[in-house]
Formats: sequence, C-alpha cells, structure tokens
Amino acid sequence: MATVALCALTGGKVSFNCNVFSKRLCLQGSLFKSCRLVSTMFKASDMQIELSKQPKEKPDATKLVFGKSFSDHMLTIQWSLEKGWEKPQIKPFQNLSIHPACSALHYSVELFEGLKAYRCVDKKIRMFRPMLNMERFHRGALRACLPPSLGVTRSNYAMIFVIIGPVGPYFATGSFNPVSLLADPRFVRSWKGGVGDNKMGGNYGPTIYVQNEAARDGCQQVLWLYGDNHEVTEVGTMNLFVFWKDKNGEEELVTPPLDGLILPGVTRHSLLDLARKWGEFKVSERKITMGELMTALKENQILEVFGSGTACVVCPVSRILYHGQNHHIPTMENGPKLAKRFLKELTDIQYGRTPSDWMHLVV
Ligand SMILES: Cc1ncc(COP(=O)(O)O)c(C=O)c1O
Repeated sequence: MATVALCALTGGKVSFNCNVFSKRLCLQGSLFKSCRLVSTMFKASDMQIELSKQPKEKPDATKLVFGKSFSDHMLTIQWSLEKGWEKPQIKPFQNLSIHPACSALHYSVELFEGLKAYRCVDKKIRMFRPMLNMERFHRGALRACLPPSLGVTRSNYAMIFVIIGPVGPYFATGSFNPVSLLADPRFVRSWKGGVGDNKMGGNYGPTIYVQNEAARDGCQQVLWLYGDNHEVTEVGTMNLFVFWKDKNGEEELVTPPLDGLILPGVTRHSLLDLARKWGEFKVSERKITMGELMTALKENQILEVFGSGTACVVCPVSRILYHGQNHHIPTMENGPKLAKRFLKELTDIQYGRTPSDWMHLVV
C-alpha cells in the first residue's frame, strides 16, 4: 500500500515528499498529461538515494495489520516558490520536521492518495490503475492551491512524500464479513460547492467523531446522507453501490453520481467499467434517497448493498440503523452474487491471473 501526500506551509520551512510511484508517474510526463508541469521541474534521473543503515526485519506476512508496517525508505521532494522543485530523494524512513506555523497543520492545506501494488502470480509487482490516483491527486492539488498548480499557488513552501508498506488481505481467506451502518442525517461528510470530492485531510478528521457515534450505536461504519431528502452518498471511506430490481422488475446497479459530494473512487470507476463491459444489467449513476431504499427494502427489491474501495475492493452491507430502527439488508442471503463476482474479477486482474492494461509493472 502506498500513501502519497502533499502538504503546504506558508511562512515556515517545508519538506515535500514523493515515492517510487511518483517517480514513474509524475516524473515521466509522457505518461500523464496533467503532470507535465511537474515533470518539467524534477526528473527521475536526478534522484538521490540514501539507503538505510538499519534495515528492519521483514514483518510476518500472515500477521500484517492494515497501515501499520512501513518500508525502510520513503521518497521526498521539496518545493519552494523561490527554487521550484528540488531533486527527488529516497532516504531512510523518518519523522518529518515541520514548522509550527505549517499551514497543513492549521488549515489542513494538504491532500493524500492511497493505492496498492500487487505481487502477481508471475512474482512481478504491478500497480492497479495508478493514473487514476494521480489524476485525482492533481485535481486535489489544484483545489488546494498546492504546487502542481504552479502559478496560482498560495504556498511558499510545500512537500510531497510517499510512504509504502505491506498489507495483508482485507478479508481473511473464505470470509466476506458484512458491515452494519449508522445513517444519521444530523451528520454530513460533504456538501455542494465543498471539497468532498477531493482526498483532503480536512474531509477525514471530522468523521472520527461520527464513526464513534456509529460504534456507540452498535454499527461498524457510517452511511453518509445529504440534504432534506436524505440522499445516500458514501459508506465510511468507500463508495456505495446498490444492486436491486427497479420499478419494472429489471436488475439495476446504482451508485450515486459524481456531483461534487462523492469521492471519485478508483474502485468505483473500475466496478462501473466491469459492469458496463458485461452488459448484463442496467448500470446507473444517479441519486438514491433513503426513502427509495426503504421502499425497495419493504418490497423485497434489494438484492445487494456494498461499499467499494482500494482497501477491501468490495464490502457487503447487512444492516442499516436509520431513525432509531434497524433495517436488515439481505446482501449476504443473495450470495452476495454480484459483490463476490466483482471481488473475483478485480482481484484476478490485480494479481495478474487475468492480464489487463489496468496493471502497471513496477518490478
Ligand atoms: C471518502 C472516500 N470514498 C471512497 C473511497 C474509495 O476510493 P478508492 O476506490 O479510490 O480507494 C475513498 C478512499 O480513497 C474515500 O476516502
């Protein structure tokens, strides 16, 4: 799993860090048009490498906890208004030194990306659709006035860094544990005209409180609602999919549209691509309200509800707590046929069992 982060500070010293991932993508401008500005500023051939003198022991691959182990090295690149991008550096994994006035700390002028590389069946390591992460990163940087938006930047100093670490399977072999959701209209994750469609840190910190409310009410995640008619938007930090029978009794896969409220997930994009390629049922990007969901549930029209994201690929939903009432969602009783098929198709691609141009060779 790689985390790419970019943060800014004004009036203080900043370091910005980047990684193997950025080296391939941002530094090679021909691969990614919107990164060309960046690519003209720093080059992979300028990379400075300092190896760790105290490499850690490799963690036990069977006991990996998500996001807890990190590699011995990280990639950093500094930027300043005066000098532009400096030389990229791979150096031993270390704490960052940040000025107390760093605007990333005070105003959350920062953004991040998370993506996975997979060791495929041929033992080679490949990243899954990294251009989509980089495009999202670039859009976020423009919105945050961070260096990829050179010329309009408001920061004097910035740093981009990439850290990587091994992660185990999200679901232990054979298990496909469904989650329960708190749908509480008192809380919103994003709003029209806001930045909910960007991976900015400020979107995530405030959700911890709501996540705690969900846990207190016996739920594992939050189903984020929006507006007076309680539109369903996302599940925790996943996109939401509903597979149901529409009013004409036809099977339909629905996910909320990218209207600014929704984080455009790489997994969401991929599931839509797969479903449209299969062409076996209707695929829609449109608003869904809690009212519609509850009516469909009463009328036994709901087949599956699941979240999608890089960490788990798909995550079935079995219960929604809404207005103090628990509503059972029959995802597991229905297989879940579609969620399992998505998981298999996507992981077959990710682990190289099905060749695909979605995978980019690293080594
Ligand atoms: C709010 C939110 N929604 C959805 C997703 C899923 O996106 P992806 O499929 O790119 O991991 C994420 C994770 O990045 C997220 O933070």
